[in-house]
Amino acid sequence: MQFNRDEAWKLLNEFTTNPSLIKHGLSVEAAMRAYARYFGEDEETWAIVGLIHDFDYEQNPTESTHLHVGCAILSERGWSEDWILAVGSHADYMGIPRDTPMRKALFAVDELTGFLTACALVRPDKSIADVRIKSVKKKLKDKAFVRAVNRNDVYTGAEALGVELGDHIERVRDAMATVSEELGLPGTS
Ligand SMILES: [Fe+2]
Ligand SMILES: [Fe+2]
Repeated sequence: MQFNRDEAWKLLNEFTTNPSLIKHGLSVEAAMRAYARYFGEDEETWAIVGLIHDFDYEQNPTESTHLHVGCAILSERGWSEDWILAVGSHADYMGIPRDTPMRKALFAVDELTGFLTACALVRPDKSIADVRIKSVKKKLKDKAFVRAVNRNDVYTGAEALGVELGDHIERVRDAMATVSEELGLPGTS
């Protein structure tokens, strides 16, 4: 069955109360929209997969539960297999090959959105739109900055997607800037 964006939003909110996790879903959604347009693919589908990819995480934050539970819930509720596999593919331990552009894009933007959020938050104006690509690249090399973000996932994700790192960072940043109010990173200008 095909679900629309409204239903995806409701699903995310049904299972998630943590505002950071909601913002993470919105960030990944925006980035997936941008990549669907870039590849000439279905924007709504990619957006929805991005929005819900971590919907079960708050209640199931471990490798033995996150996505195992979420994918089962999606399946029970009649979500289409394609979408479920795309959602599941973002974690290596699920063993689902990332062999479609949608799966590659989801993996490539997932960690990067979190990293870009951190880059915006250390700016005095907290403006995502004004985060500089050069400064992001520099911070990626700075191991002390947001240790939780796996640098290797950022690099290999972009590579597997076939995009140059700087272009990738720019595209994801610009996508996040389109929802900067919702992300709480509107800046002052
Ligand atoms: Fe996840
Ligand atoms: Fe995620």
